[in-house]
Amino acid sequence: MINYKKKIAEIICEAVEGLTVEEIMSMIEIPTDTKMGDYAFPCFKLAKTLRKAPPLIAKDIAGKLAGEEAFEKVEPVNAYVNLFLSRKGFMEDVVKEAVKEGDNYGRSTLGKDKTVIVEFSSPNIAKPFHIGHIRSTVIGNSIYKIYDFLGYDTVRINHLGDYGTQFGKMIVAYRKWGNKEDVIQSPIKTLLGYYTKFHEEVENDPSLDDDARAAFAKLENGSPEEVELWQWFRDESLKEFHRVYDMLGISFDSYAGESFYSDKMDRIVDWLKEKNLLIESEGAQIVDLEKYGMSPALITKKDGSTLYITRDIAAAVYRKEHYNFYKNLYIVASQQNLHFQQWFKIVELMGCEWAKDCVHIPFGLVSLEEGTMSTRHGRVVFLEEVLNRAVDQTKEIIKEKNVATDNIDETAKMVGIGAVMFQELSNNRIKDYVFSWDKVLNFEGETGPYVQYTHARAASVLRKAGDAVVEKAKQVSVLDMAYVLSDSAYDLAKLIYQFPQVIAEAGDKYEPSVVTRHIVDIAQSFNRFYHDEYILVDDEAEKLAKLALVIAAKNTLKNGLYLLGIQAPEKM
Ligand code: ARG
Repeated sequence: MINYKKKIAEIICEAVEGLTVEEIMSMIEIPTDTKMGDYAFPCFKLAKTLRKAPPLIAKDIAGKLAGEEAFEKVEPVNAYVNLFLSRKGFMEDVVKEAVKEGDNYGRSTLGKDKTVIVEFSSPNIAKPFHIGHIRSTVIGNSIYKIYDFLGYDTVRINHLGDYGTQFGKMIVAYRKWGNKEDVIQSPIKTLLGYYTKFHEEVENDPSLDDDARAAFAKLENGSPEEVELWQWFRDESLKEFHRVYDMLGISFDSYAGESFYSDKMDRIVDWLKEKNLLIESEGAQIVDLEKYGMSPALITKKDGSTLYITRDIAAAVYRKEHYNFYKNLYIVASQQNLHFQQWFKIVELMGCEWAKDCVHIPFGLVSLEEGTMSTRHGRVVFLEEVLNRAVDQTKEIIKEKNVATDNIDETAKMVGIGAVMFQELSNNRIKDYVFSWDKVLNFEGETGPYVQYTHARAASVLRKAGDAVVEKAKQVSVLDMAYVLSDSAYDLAKLIYQFPQVIAEAGDKYEPSVVTRHIVDIAQSFNRFYHDEYILVDDEAEKLAKLALVIAAKNTLKNGLYLLGIQAPEKM
């Protein structure tokens, strides 16, 4: 496709002196009122170098651009040059590309030969996979898809919380009150029960904490009994996590969690010592970060055991050496801001120039209308239950609304789970939000079901047109886009045109909601076009042109949903 901003900038660049194409591109605006053109170029900045009043400059430039084929109209208005693209040429350019590229429309090679690590989800073993985990899981998955689409080599890592003193607690609790059969029956719920009990009992018996610390130290030293219990907890938990990942259609390239780094910690401690960064404090080793306005980071405890932050440092070093990343992304809640700031600084002080390539991508809290959760007190809403409920409720809605489907279970799954994921990706990630069933499953609002429904509507138009005609419309060389120059068709084409740019922006900002919002716009725009125009007209040339626009819109919606990790049903 033609880069219109660039094209305009190149033409203007010839016409005026002293500005580069890039500078001009950054000056070009897209007027909010389309009556002012598709693009506008403000001339204020040129007044000084050209020693002329801006309106005169605008007039000059407009005169020079007037003959260009790409524009239908070029109009100087005060200090602005307003540019109207030639609709036919634009339509042809955009629709042909989006039809031809199909599932690849919007893909780029921007990230060629660069590796981006996307670390996301990273739940803690033997703890419930609850509604709070949906954020990192779904946002991270989308960021991975966006980077993959932009042509980067990607590595998806699930940094499982499978190590640390909580396993000491779990081991102690299991030994004191546990029962093997119960764990096998319902692993996470049972283990959570032990964990809760531990926290109740420790209030009266603080020595339990010492036992837990001792058990973890044994685990770290490879004592077989502790390792076996831990391995068992881990395996059982992973089974449960996998059920949820399968429902969400999410997978990982690596499950190297915290335990993976247990034998890589000495090197980090030595390295820190060598750089004179460690200070002893009551037997523990810390890095003082006061100079940088942060509290000290605890690297090893009195008993020599390492901590969460130590394992993060070891993991980053390992990733650099193993993957030689261009960027190392962490999709982790904003509650951990300080943690990441601390260890990014430590890695920098260790002399790793790549510290700057580690990025923490924080997000806000999700809460439920019913109230907050707390793992310690056993108040928790399992993500699996939320997803099942979404599917069940969607099935009811499908029956009630008589939604067209060949397989109600399949459709309910796509739509129900898609709805939950879509809501998750609708707002700026940093915002806190309240999970609301009414909003999630609304087929009319700015929701997943609405976008999926619009995609299915486009598919239905194509089915009605018949395979032969659709195949012909896909032969883009036969299209005469002069038939689709209405405002609603043109607006839709403009949104389709912006799609590749939108993906790049979402990648730059690590913000999937940029894609979400854009495909809602496309869905709304498509539905306007659908209502305004009769698509399956008798005239073959007109029908082909309109169908091509339908195919282009359908491809864009499908690819947009894909980037969010959501399926696009053909029937609904
Ligand atoms: N397991 C941690 C938790 O549930 C999140 C891990 C985040 N990733 C990291 N590299 N620290 O809070």
